[in-house]
Amino acid sequence: MNNVKRALLASALALLSLPVMADAAHPKIGFSIDDLRLERWSRDRDYFVAAAEKMDAKVFVQSADANEQKQISQIENLISRGVDVIVIVPFNATVLTNAVAEAKKAGIKVVSYDRLILNADIDAYISFDNEKVGEMQASGVLNAAPKGNYFLLGGAPTDNNAKVLREGQMKVLQPAIDKGDIKIVGQQWVKEWNPTEALSIVENALTRNDNKIDGIVASNDATAGGAIQALAAQQLAGKVPISGQDADLAAVKRVIAGTQTMTVYKPLKLIASEAAKLSVQLARNEKPAYSSQYDNGSKKVDTILLTPTPLTKDNIDLLEQDGFYTKAQIAGQ
Ligand code: GAL
Repeated sequence: MNNVKRALLASALALLSLPVMADAAHPKIGFSIDDLRLERWSRDRDYFVAAAEKMDAKVFVQSADANEQKQISQIENLISRGVDVIVIVPFNATVLTNAVAEAKKAGIKVVSYDRLILNADIDAYISFDNEKVGEMQASGVLNAAPKGNYFLLGGAPTDNNAKVLREGQMKVLQPAIDKGDIKIVGQQWVKEWNPTEALSIVENALTRNDNKIDGIVASNDATAGGAIQALAAQQLAGKVPISGQDADLAAVKRVIAGTQTMTVYKPLKLIASEAAKLSVQLARNEKPAYSSQYDNGSKKVDTILLTPTPLTKDNIDLLEQDGFYTKAQIAGQ
């Protein structure tokens, strides 16, 4: 049966909400990504597609450009194309319940990629241990500034990871707060993890605290970059320890230059290829090797949890050893 006939049959079956036959030998995978404008996700996409195609799968990638309605209609479009599995990096973790239910009704498996989709009947979740990432971020700043005023620069309030990161951060910070060593003088979530948003939040925080901020726990590199711009404007860049995550190239250069204290390396090739393997296994009704379960508000979700690595100036060359960047990229201006 050629592709056109399969697609028409799939749409008809989807409309009748009958299960679509999975093509186990050549699975079709939809990859719905929140926003390819943030550096790391284009790498996740490239690694995922390469790994899936090696397993004879075909991947249809869609970017929602940080728009929840767009992501919902893109998922519905993938359903009507009759894919076997949909892998989702949710823009908003709380608005996909119905879209996921539609996919399941059409016999399509659903995987939550890196960010947990809440209150939905998803089949699997794969991510790095985000609570550990939060602990690493807070420890990195606390080691550099054991006392003083702290500002907490959170992730997107629509992203469940932002909440989990904060839980990890507070596990490390709370004892220092209880001892009176540090004081949280302000905290704010950053809409869409947007660096410009982070810049104005930290500008205001510095003004409100008369520049007396001794540490900033930032939840990813993009927002740390915005915060460091605000610090630089007050000649404080490199003087106020600040965390991040993702090992974005600009952040790696800042860690080497000393304006960013640390980042967290999450091998994207690992999560992307593991996710591709997981998706193909689900399409073939094989049993993936799950390592834990997460409660997403409506079920205990089978989960593959990967290990992150904190990076400072001392071990930043791990990125080159791991093939994540070349020496030229890291040295480049
Ligand atoms: C989070 C992700 C982080 C961070 C952010 C920006 O969900 O876990 O790596 O970079 O998204 O996209």
